[in-house]
Amino acid sequence: MNSGPEVAPPVSVRGLSKSFGVGPNKVRALRDVSLDVSAGEHLAVIGPSGSGKSTLLHLIAGLTFADAGTVVVAGQDLADLGDHALTTFRRRHVGMVFQAYNLVPTLSVQDNLRLPLLLDRRHGPENGRVETLLRVLGLLDRQRHRPDQLSGGEQQRAAVGRAMITNPTVILADEPTGNLDSSSSRTLCELLHSLAREHGRTIITVTHDPAVAMWADRVMVLKDGRIVDTLRPSAFASPAELGARFLAVIARDEEAGACA
Ligand SMILES: Nc1ncnc2c1ncn2[C@@H]1O[C@H](COP(=O)(O)OP(=O)(O)OP(=O)(O)O)[C@@H](O)[C@H]1O
Ligand SMILES: [Mg+2]
Repeated sequence: MNSGPEVAPPVSVRGLSKSFGVGPNKVRALRDVSLDVSAGEHLAVIGPSGSGKSTLLHLIAGLTFADAGTVVVAGQDLADLGDHALTTFRRRHVGMVFQAYNLVPTLSVQDNLRLPLLLDRRHGPENGRVETLLRVLGLLDRQRHRPDQLSGGEQQRAAVGRAMITNPTVILADEPTGNLDSSSSRTLCELLHSLAREHGRTIITVTHDPAVAMWADRVMVLKDGRIVDTLRPSAFASPAELGARFLAVIARDEEAGACA
C-alpha cells in the first residue's frame, strides 16, 4: 500500500444506511452516508446527540453491519470477511476508542494496553511500546491501577492508549476528550494530530467540542443520520467561530426540514 494515485483511501464508505427497531419504533440512524478519509487525514464528525455519530464509527469498525451500503477499510470490504477474519482484521487495522471506555475492569492499565498485542500474538520488542505510550499519556505512575481506581480522564487516556498500541491503520475515537479538562484534552488532540501528520494514520474523531474539531483537517456535520455540511477548520479563526457555524448549519437544516 504505497503511494500512487489509484491507491484506495484507508476508509471508504458508500451509501451507508442503518436503522434500529421495527414499525413505529424504527429509528433511521444513518441515511445514505458516503465518505472517504485519506492516509494521514484527521476527520472530525460533529453533530447533535442521536445524529448517528457512534453508529457510523461502529459500522466503520465492523462492530455492526449496515442495512445498505459498503464499508471498505485498508482496501478490504468488511462484508466479505467472516467472523474470525473480521476479528483478526479489526485487531490489526482498527483502533477504537469507545464512548464508554470499555476497559477490562479486572486488569491493570498496563495489562489493558498490552492485551491487544497479546491477542495478536505480538510479544517482545513491541512491549516497549506499552511503556512509551504510558509515558506519553501521563499514566506511567498509574500503570498498576485497575480502571475503577482511575479518574474518568485517566480511564479515557488508557482507552486511547489501548486503541493506539497495535499501531493500526485507522483510529476511530468516540468523544475521546469527553471527560478531560481542557489541558488534557489539548494533549490528547496533539497526540491524535501527530499520529495523522507524522505517522500517516487515518483518524476519525467524534466530538461535540468545536475546540477538538479545530484540530481536524475536515469536519463533517451529521444531523438525523445525514451529512448536512463539511467544514474546513482552517477557514475559522477560533473554535467559537467554528461552533457558531455548526449551530447555524443545524438551524438551517431544521428550517429546510420544516419547509419541506
Ligand atoms: N442498539 C440500538 N438500538 C436501538 N436504537 C439505537 C441503537 N443504537 C443507536 N440507536 C439510535 O440510533 C440513533 C443514533 O444513535 P447514535 O448512538 O449513533 O447517536 P450519536 O450521534 O452517537 O449520539 P450521542 O452524541 O448522544 O452519543 C439514536 O436515535 C439512537 O437512539
Ligand atoms: Mg455517540
